[in-house]
Amino acid sequence: MQISPGTRALVTGASSGIGRALAEALAARGAQVGLVARSLPELEALAEALPGRHAVLPCDVGDASAVQAAVDRFAAEAGGLDLVVANAGLTHYRPVAEQPLGEVEQMTRVNWLGTVYTIHAALPHLLGGRRGHIVVVSSGAGLRSFPGAAAYGATKAAQRGYSTALRHELAGTGVSVTTVYPGEIATALHDHERERMPGWYRADDAKPATTLAAKVLTAVEGDRREVYYPALVRLLGVVNGVSPRLADRMLHRMRGASAAPRLD
Ligand SMILES: NC(=O)c1ccc[n+]([C@@H]2O[C@H](COP(=O)([O-])OP(=O)(O)OC[C@H]3O[C@@H](n4cnc5c(N)ncnc54)[C@H](OP(=O)(O)O)[C@@H]3O)[C@@H](O)[C@H]2O)c1
Repeated sequence: MQISPGTRALVTGASSGIGRALAEALAARGAQVGLVARSLPELEALAEALPGRHAVLPCDVGDASAVQAAVDRFAAEAGGLDLVVANAGLTHYRPVAEQPLGEVEQMTRVNWLGTVYTIHAALPHLLGGRRGHIVVVSSGAGLRSFPGAAAYGATKAAQRGYSTALRHELAGTGVSVTTVYPGEIATALHDHERERMPGWYRADDAKPATTLAAKVLTAVEGDRREVYYPALVRLLGVVNGVSPRLADRMLHRMRGASAAPRLD
């Protein structure tokens, strides 16, 4: 699918980080963007700053009926929908034994069910137009989960399973799917938990969201199955798929013992 002036694109989690960078990249190409997140002031300021006219759609993606209403409103106002990006997400990094269930439930509701609700609401519009594209922002943690991020990794793996099957289910419909596997990206994702990040996490090595956004747009236009950024995420996925034990050793060497304490 080509992104051009007139493309109607809805991005969840558009108020910050990767979603914001995607909204900016889309607007720069002339797309009309539906901006979804909970923070109304941030969305309004972004809509004001972007070139062109865009829709501010305050919404909690963990609320299925609110997502449905936001997607339907955008499609009605824009006269259709071409591209949807299920990106909204959050983290609570904590060892399983210390993690309150409420944190697991929140990540499940926003990261995993929020993706399902977004796609469920968008799919009829895309299929009705017989063309379009879905982007799911998963994570390297969806390929190989890390100590301290078990529940988060599980929500990201759920997205991976869903989007992989969906891409095949949509064969011949004119609608396609790209799954995105970012590594560490410089955003606000961990701002609330900087003091308790695991030893393996590398904040100083985080990559820019703008580069990732450019890669996602290229992938949409090339109907690519996946985006890995940085490229090392792809290597980790391949190695872990072939031999989790080898991936343990690779992670141990690259990120220290906290990344893979057991080498048995
Ligand atoms: N940064 C990384 O290193 C990294 C790596 C791998 C994957 N990812 C994934 O990338 C995606 C975007 O994260 P980010 O790094 O850009 O973090 P971010 O800067 O914290 O942005 C997260 C976005 O999600 C929105 N959001 C959170 N809860 C929401 C809810 N209940 N309903 C609607 N919107 C909600 C936030 O907006 P409001 O707070 O205004 O609602 C914000 O716009 C996430 O799915 C994350 O798992 C990030």
